[in-house]
Amino acid sequence: MKINFFICKDFEKKRKRKLSLKNYHQKSDIKYWQLDHNLYFEISQIFISFLRLMQYRFSPAMDSLQSSAIREILKNTADPAVIPFAAGNPSQEAFPTQMIREISDELFATDPIGVLQYNITEGYIPLRDSLKAWLKEDHCFDEEKDEVIVTSWAQQGIELACKVLCGSGDTIVCESPSFVGSLNAFKSYQVNLVGVETDEEGIDVEKLEKVMQTHTVKVMYLIPNFQNPTGKTMTLARRKAVYDLAVKYQCIILEDNPYGDLRFQGENIPSIKTFDTEGVVLYMRSFSKILAPGLRVGYVSGPKEILAKMVICKQVSDVHSTIWAQRVCHQFLKKVEKSEYLSKLRTLYGRKYRLMAESIEKYFPAEIQVTHPEGGLFLRVTLPDHIDMLEFCKKAINEAKVAVVPWNAFLISDQEECHSFRMNYSTPTDEQIVQGCERLGNLMKNW
Ligand SMILES: Cc1ncc(COP(=O)(O)O)c(C=O)c1O
Repeated sequence: MKINFFICKDFEKKRKRKLSLKNYHQKSDIKYWQLDHNLYFEISQIFISFLRLMQYRFSPAMDSLQSSAIREILKNTADPAVIPFAAGNPSQEAFPTQMIREISDELFATDPIGVLQYNITEGYIPLRDSLKAWLKEDHCFDEEKDEVIVTSWAQQGIELACKVLCGSGDTIVCESPSFVGSLNAFKSYQVNLVGVETDEEGIDVEKLEKVMQTHTVKVMYLIPNFQNPTGKTMTLARRKAVYDLAVKYQCIILEDNPYGDLRFQGENIPSIKTFDTEGVVLYMRSFSKILAPGLRVGYVSGPKEILAKMVICKQVSDVHSTIWAQRVCHQFLKKVEKSEYLSKLRTLYGRKYRLMAESIEKYFPAEIQVTHPEGGLFLRVTLPDHIDMLEFCKKAINEAKVAVVPWNAFLISDQEECHSFRMNYSTPTDEQIVQGCERLGNLMKNW
């Protein structure tokens, strides 16, 4: 009877038995109870160890967010001995740390509570006003139809847009390859993600239209400037063509433009948002690549109706973006002469890119193909067929101590076979750029 009490599955029964046992003990001798108590302890231990073996049951969305081989390769990138060609960080030389410190000191001296208090979800109003003015200069904000909200990072804008516009099973179309953070954000909403190949001019519009004819595409996600990971820029003709398709098939374009200000060669190309008369474009920018990613401040410009819904979702997500960081961004925009500031960044990244391109030319075998971006932070390297790309990336990090990102990280299915990897030139120092290219080149030559 005692054992029955301990293994009994039904909690209510257990409780009643415990009570009756207690009564029993009150009447009977204490030794009996002690034995019972020890047994209870032993069996609870078995129970606890059983609980420790418990299998957690995660949401089905988590299944699509697993990426095996790539994570294995990238897990050592934090090792300081590894040359960082994998990350997408701004250069250490690009951070205006002194200015940020002065702005912060001033804010805390003049309005400490304002910096630390709750604020509205849409974002700090004076910052939004400055952003509207900047976006207007670029023809990416229409006072009558559009609104601007501040997000806690560009990626939050992407995620909120997906949450507001798509349900499980809805189709989102994107360039293939594309930014892994956005792909994962989409996958977390269990959408049907369809990738369309790109060529030298950008996304293949014929293939894109075929997808739109066969699926009800709700959202088109595009990175027209210095795309992550290819580094390519979409031509004006392609931008117009995808815009026309979006209007024709009634779908929303998420135009993600975190690198647009980092052009170091060639002519600026107008954003898709500039020709949006129909209210189909949500335009995303961020302070991450021009000021400091640790501030986590991004923003979205787009149709008022959509942004109002995004605000509701943002309330659920984080109430508002950090007010201190928003105010730093606001003061930064007030203090700097934008074109002068951005021109310094472009010079820096242009120099770093050229150093990497020269080092690649010097150390890589001639058969290796490399892209030539006009801005942004990345380039693509394609290996010849006889080199197994995943093996190469593994050896690069484990033996040559150089981290690069295997291309399948950017594909919708990371099981697809491919021969490329992504290299970043903003994070490493100049010395690391040369050394890293030499090491990778040796690995290729000795394969
Ligand atoms: C194309 C693209 N979009 C968005 C982001 C995210 O930027 P943020 O730091 O503002 O979230 C990145 C970051 O690398 C990116 O490459």
